[in-house]
Amino acid sequence: MQWFERDFDHPLYFEIYKDKDAEAAVEGPGLAALLALPPGSRVLDLPCGWGRLRPALEAQGYEVVGGDLSPLNLARHAAEHPGALARLDLRALPFRSGCADGVFCAYTSWGYFPTDAENQRQLAEFARVLRPGGVLLLDLAGRGFFLRALATLDGDWYEVEGQYRERVRLSQDGRRFLTDRIMGDQRFQHDIWIPTDAEARAALAAAGLEVEEAFGSWQGAPWNPWAERWIYRAVKQ
Ligand SMILES: C[S@@+](CC[C@H](N)C(=O)[O-])C[C@H]1O[C@@H](n2cnc3c(N)ncnc32)[C@H](O)[C@@H]1O
Repeated sequence: MQWFERDFDHPLYFEIYKDKDAEAAVEGPGLAALLALPPGSRVLDLPCGWGRLRPALEAQGYEVVGGDLSPLNLARHAAEHPGALARLDLRALPFRSGCADGVFCAYTSWGYFPTDAENQRQLAEFARVLRPGGVLLLDLAGRGFFLRALATLDGDWYEVEGQYRERVRLSQDGRRFLTDRIMGDQRFQHDIWIPTDAEARAALAAAGLEVEEAFGSWQGAPWNPWAERWIYRAVKQ
């Protein structure tokens, strides 16, 4: 089993990420507005997790379909934010080509796969399901910001809110961020490729997605190398 199949589908995931529900009140409206599509647009929320950002997408008047791999997330989503949902793998979407006006990919949900080919496949699938002129909003962790943060942490373990222990390291090739967490008797490890700006843009271009704008915050601040979020608004050619 790969890390992303287990880590996100564990009940403790909701404990570790419990602050993300409150953050959604700011994050959701900001990101949903950056997608900048007209009301009535069909938007795929991929991956949707437990649906914390869906209300903000619906508030823009979008017709939302969510998709995720984790049964646990999908069950919570159905209970808390009922609506169209699909269980899916980001590498092979169960949607018709050209069916969507927008794809909304929030909170560092790209770079999970171990190979470049699989990560590229995810973008190719996003491009395939978008109609020409459709928009992908890709919200990534800003590599510069997190490299700086990592330099001060130096791979040490630290306690998070008295709840769990965490350490973050770079992979040997320097491309991936490895986050270990220990909560109770459970151990988790996220292993995520956090691309440079040039790598992200090259991958989007290779998928036929042209970056029209890049932002450095959920509120739409201009992109900068040290921004915590790197958010790309890319249009299907
Ligand atoms: C960090 S969460 C973000 C979820 C949502 N975008 C949000 O902001 O709340 C990442 C999500 O990706 C899902 N996921 C991980 N690997 C996946 C895959 N191969 N296919 C589909 N979903 C996947 C996880 O189950 C999890 O819900």
